[in-house]
Amino acid sequence: MTVSTIILAAGKGTRMKSPKPKIFHKIAGKRLIAFSVDLANAVGSEETVVVVGEETIKDTRGIFSENKIKFCMQKKQLGTGDAVKIAIKNLKSKSKYTLVLYADTPFVTKKTIKRMISKANKGSEIVFLGFQSITKNSYGRFKTASKKTLIDIIEKNEPGYSSLASLSNSGILLARSNIIADLIKKIKNNNAKQEYYLTDIVKMASKQGYSSTYIQCEEDECLGVNSQLELSVAERKYQDDFRKKLMASGVSMQSPETCFFSYDTKIKSGCVIEPNVVFGTGVEIESSTIIRSYSYIEGTHIGRHCQIGPFARLRPDTYLFSDVKVGNFVEIKNSTLASDTKANHLSYIGDAKVGANTNIGAGTIFCNYDGKNKHRTIVGDNVFVGSNASLIAPLKIGDSSIVAAGSSINRDVPSESLAIARPIQQNKIGLGKKIMLKLQKVAGRIKR
Ligand code: UD1
Ligand code: CA
Repeated sequence: MTVSTIILAAGKGTRMKSPKPKIFHKIAGKRLIAFSVDLANAVGSEETVVVVGEETIKDTRGIFSENKIKFCMQKKQLGTGDAVKIAIKNLKSKSKYTLVLYADTPFVTKKTIKRMISKANKGSEIVFLGFQSITKNSYGRFKTASKKTLIDIIEKNEPGYSSLASLSNSGILLARSNIIADLIKKIKNNNAKQEYYLTDIVKMASKQGYSSTYIQCEEDECLGVNSQLELSVAERKYQDDFRKKLMASGVSMQSPETCFFSYDTKIKSGCVIEPNVVFGTGVEIESSTIIRSYSYIEGTHIGRHCQIGPFARLRPDTYLFSDVKVGNFVEIKNSTLASDTKANHLSYIGDAKVGANTNIGAGTIFCNYDGKNKHRTIVGDNVFVGSNASLIAPLKIGDSSIVAAGSSINRDVPSESLAIARPIQQNKIGLGKKIMLKLQKVAGRIKR
């Protein structure tokens, strides 16, 4: 059994009111278009063609690396029927079935498509996906006969629409490839909108003796994204489902509704996520780690038993081994911290490799940028960096060494050494009192 997939995405997305094409808007860090592409892949689609408009085509280059995913252009949006016609011309493989998905309907599941495939395998040439819509809407409506036969789909503004209290059309369909390819050529645009309606294939099929049917899914699955508001509704649904999955897998959250995840966030059981934490893409956390409130984490691997935050900022390409502690107002970027290392307060660690059991004191800054280039800092194991040190890269600090608080270090420090680089302090005995008295006198005179 083979499937080719067509993803319709040529709409202008005007209601998004955004200069960015609709399919590039994201839910949980994942582009809308990637949801349909992933679904196609999940059901084993051997070739996928995405139909986009002229204004979008130039931005699609290189966004999917697999060469079975192709973009083609529909210059004028003449209707869903026209879009499918163009896509079919671009399909090379001779799959048994053609699946039509909508790029702005991201939540359709693999299970549902598999149900459509098994329905088709039982002998229906065309299978549509319908749902019971609670709200009044503008969806096409199924016109059915006995035994779940689909005889027509009526669009809003077309004769007979209002009398149909039937299932709504999600638009998603699976059809025998040779039959849809044949019918699509014959679709006409003699309707209220003067568009080529893909849904017209139903009545055309029945005239030619082919059978159309449908399966039903929950309305949730057919949630469409047409505006910023609907995008936020989709985001909320995705986040809710994601939180539930995480908790079911053993992650603790006191206030899950305040934590935000990306589609690819991976958190092992035994972790605790305190309220108000945001996960950008590319985060992986091993078991029994605690992420305290108000932390923002992206592109980071965190090992077991770590303590992160509150108010930690972990940026891309950060790798923390086990039992690492990162405290408040610490920012880490493109750096590795080995086991048992601590950076508890107010630090910036960038482009560094820090060894195990090392202490990065409060206020330590890794000065990685000279205004033009970025340089690396390598800190060994068992190092103690005192508070408010500036480590000026490129720099190597050997194992078991100490950097004195307040030092600006710009030369390598050999192992087991003490590096101290700060002006020498002088104590002038009695001078403090003298100055105080003088200041008091001046203040007194001004008062009078
Ligand atoms: C379509 C269905 C309707 C269904 C509804 C579900 C038809 C005639 N009607 O209506 O039965 O209830 O979807 O949302 O198919 N597109 C193109 N090129 C075009 C026109 C549309 O690629 O020329 C794409 C759009 O980007 C969108 C999808 O096809 O992803 C649906 O188009 P839209 O115009 O929203 O269809 P509806 O009128 O809502
Ligand atoms: Ca629509």
